[in-house]
Amino acid sequence: MSKQKETKKFYIETYGCQMNVADSEVIATVLTENDFVQTKDIESADIILINTCAIREHAEQRVYGRLDYFNSLKKKNTKLKIGIVGCMAERLKDELLEKKPFIDLIAGPDAYRHLPEMFETTESGQKAVNVLLSKEETYEDILPTRYDSNGISAFISITRGCDNMCTYCVVPFTRGRERSRLPEDILKEIDAVKNDGFKEVTIIGQNVDKYLYEDKNRKVNFPALLEMVATRIPEMRVRFSTSYPQDFNEEVVLTMTKYPNICRYIHLPVQSGSNKILNLMKRGYTREWYLDRIAMIRKHLPDCAISTDIISGFCDETEADHQDTLALMKEVQFDFAYMFKYSERPGTFAAKRLQDNVPETEKKRRLNEIINLQSRLSLNSNEKDIGKTFEVLVEGVSKKSPDNYFGRNSQNKVIVFPKAETKIGELAQVKVTHVSSATLIGKVVSPENS
Ligand code: SAH
Ligand code: SF4
Ligand code: F3S
Repeated sequence: MSKQKETKKFYIETYGCQMNVADSEVIATVLTENDFVQTKDIESADIILINTCAIREHAEQRVYGRLDYFNSLKKKNTKLKIGIVGCMAERLKDELLEKKPFIDLIAGPDAYRHLPEMFETTESGQKAVNVLLSKEETYEDILPTRYDSNGISAFISITRGCDNMCTYCVVPFTRGRERSRLPEDILKEIDAVKNDGFKEVTIIGQNVDKYLYEDKNRKVNFPALLEMVATRIPEMRVRFSTSYPQDFNEEVVLTMTKYPNICRYIHLPVQSGSNKILNLMKRGYTREWYLDRIAMIRKHLPDCAISTDIISGFCDETEADHQDTLALMKEVQFDFAYMFKYSERPGTFAAKRLQDNVPETEKKRRLNEIINLQSRLSLNSNEKDIGKTFEVLVEGVSKKSPDNYFGRNSQNKVIVFPKAETKIGELAQVKVTHVSSATLIGKVVSPENS
């Protein structure tokens, strides 16, 4: 008689970008379909998984801290298995076993189908490592379990990997070649989240503009996919991220103008305002090209919010280059930005061939100037919204003030307002009365009073 398989409880913690959040949902499905049960109580878990990010050194330091904590739990429960997955697992591979010998399992982003067998291997006291990257894996038949979402907004990946090879970036090494998912699989996921009551979908990829599905009979590019998604769920909001300046085109913007359910928000990372630095980063576009994209967006969609990513202190960045970045920020008047200090990543072109020669104090000073400028720009942008009424998707109760709800408008700005007739998950008309650089504050109005 075969031995009854014991049900194992797994706990999963996720770091990094939305792509990792989406992958953790795939992992949860793979494991639950194989008789594992998910727990949110780390102390009762038989297996702890940490889905990691390698984008900056700091991201990895945090993971080491968590791993040491997991090891302390292993001392209390010697049967506990610890698995590290995702980009840091892919980057460091078995080297992690030297640094943290208590790790039982290492799986890269294309190995998640194999997790059940890998855990079986660890049962016999062996280590399980699978960091093979694939050119095909898109987890097409796996419907992700949205275990940690707010039930309102879902993220659906449309591509995996990245072929861009920006010189500072580790992602092409940790995620492998670019692959586009079958449009029907994406639509199947869209239908599933709609049936589960979600109200908003964000389709994601490292460079969504490169989305391309081709077979004998058809070719579906990103604008075509966006249109398929927008028409499939006209009553739901659609967002997308990340756009890449070199590939971002008018066709995408024209598609946005055709469908009001596609949100008026574009995240278009610029990284630097200096052509010399953009060239060293191998971004493939110039400052002028980027500004031209912005002008094109504004021409068709004057109410569209635009955000960006900026890296300060990249190799050979001079004060003049830094000033070019500040000037570009002012010219574009970004509504929001994610801002980072350059962090050298082993194995990248920049690590091998360029000098990380901007002193740490200088990187910090430049970053602070960028952050301070952006906070003024965000405040300017928000002040322009005073007196306007927006349709807001109510996402939850404000953490800071339990009498208030919070939600987002189409432009992705967070709006806080006193609880009224409206409920979480519904759309409300909210008139903006006050603002800070981070938030809009308003009150619910009936449409005729707006
Ligand atoms: N695919 C997206 C971004 C992915 S990573 C794009 O190309 O726009 C998110 C952001 O992290 C990047 O836009 C960049 O600003 C930042 N980043 C990536 N590598 C970095 C590094 N080595 N040091 C500091 N910031 C980095
Ligand atoms: Fe990294 Fe560039 Fe790819 Fe973005 S586009 S993930 S920055 S290599
Ligand atoms: Fe995302 Fe970090 Fe990997 S940003 S793709 S989890 S390196």
